[in-house]
Amino acid sequence: MSKIIFASNRLPVTVQKNTNEGFTYQKSIGGLATGLKSYHEQSNGLWVGWPGIADEKMNREEKKAVQKELLENHQCLPVFLTEEEVDLYYNIFCNRTIWPLFHYFTSKTTYEAESWEAYKLVNLKFFQTIESVIEEDDVIWIHDFHLMLLPQMIKEKYPAAQIGFFLHIPFPSFEIFRLLIWREEILLGLLGADLIGFHTYEYARHFLSSIRRLLDLETNFNRVSYEDRYVQVDAFPMGIDYEFFAREHETPASQEETREIIEKTKGIKMILSIDRLDYTKGIPERIKGFSRFLAQNPEYRGKVRLNLIVAPSRIDVDSYDRLRKEIKELVSDINGKYGTFTWMPIWFFFRTFTQESLITLYRHSDVLLVTPLRDGMNLVAKEYIASRTDYEGMVVISETAGAASELSEAVIVNANDYNAIARGLKKALAMPREEKIARNKMMSRRIQRYHVGFWASEFLNTLNRFSLESAEII
Ligand code: G6P
Repeated sequence: MSKIIFASNRLPVTVQKNTNEGFTYQKSIGGLATGLKSYHEQSNGLWVGWPGIADEKMNREEKKAVQKELLENHQCLPVFLTEEEVDLYYNIFCNRTIWPLFHYFTSKTTYEAESWEAYKLVNLKFFQTIESVIEEDDVIWIHDFHLMLLPQMIKEKYPAAQIGFFLHIPFPSFEIFRLLIWREEILLGLLGADLIGFHTYEYARHFLSSIRRLLDLETNFNRVSYEDRYVQVDAFPMGIDYEFFAREHETPASQEETREIIEKTKGIKMILSIDRLDYTKGIPERIKGFSRFLAQNPEYRGKVRLNLIVAPSRIDVDSYDRLRKEIKELVSDINGKYGTFTWMPIWFFFRTFTQESLITLYRHSDVLLVTPLRDGMNLVAKEYIASRTDYEGMVVISETAGAASELSEAVIVNANDYNAIARGLKKALAMPREEKIARNKMMSRRIQRYHVGFWASEFLNTLNRFSLESAEII
């Protein structure tokens, strides 16, 4: 019987070494693990990935023990990486080359030959780990920009395997993608897959255009003919676990964690902003947009508050640390400029909150302000809409977030335009209750229907259907 193997840079379980002895295994929160849960938990499902702990931190016995625990209790197969590999492959190639380039930050993109070698090597390590368990007609679903060479490696040796690839970040336009030194290798790596999925049609279109112009391959609608086979390319917008967010969640711990933020809202409209620390998220621009809103609408001073939550991320990459400082300074400038003894316009939290606390915050926020400069999808916007079961909140979202194409009833703005952010905020805050309810009902129904389980099964069913079709054609 064939099995499904998932591959992603991070495993759904993160391993940490305790200070005294032993290891802890923490479930990684996030949409992907939730969406794939039911497939992964099938009796022979397996997940291959990096456990989040450097090789050097474990001796031989410990490594074996971690491997055993991950396999037996979590159906995970770890790919162990050394500190140097993590640095060159993850910090440099993934996070300083691919990530900025694919998000259109060309000036932040670096090209280092050594890191490209490490990227190839780590993709090969993933391949070797998969090789230890693969059988001829297994289904392999590879995720995201860390593993773009893996599909080809598998296809070459296991032509009968059904291989799917999904990119969770944008695929940039040809004019941007062509800047990459190793562009042909990356495209050929991806073409090892039978089905390549993106969040939006735009990204799929960009990918097909790069295929035509850089590899001179023929494409017919969404199908690429490559060597003796076809590769299908399509859009599969990722959803969330709707039922989870729509459920009641308050726990004593989440009440405690959010109490102060919520209690001090009497008579104040709450604007919420939640992101991972990342320059793609447009956080400084958003703060400036909020400042413009206060400047243009003095009647709102003392009556609104921006709760700015930024979760620490990729702290070993310099530009992330600089961004943290920039955000801190902007927040204190605005609080200094507009704050009074009784009112502080921005509350800044540089930390993570539990999922339950976030849901409580969603439910107490009048507006969600989510204005990335570029974002593959953005699930926070969908989580907020699902959590507001009273339909009374409103999302202000930038058009450069993948989710904006599914949330046309939200207030949509240009993330670079402070005036547009200010206008968008005012519109969302002043929107009549009936209008908010009508708009949210439409979005909520859509999010409920296209939930993350639906996304995963659509992708896997398409992969299966397409592989059968291709086998018949050949
Ligand atoms: C994005 C990527 C994911 C990644 C996540 C967190 O959403 O598409 O693949 O896991 O960011 O980033 P990190 O570098 O911490 O895994």
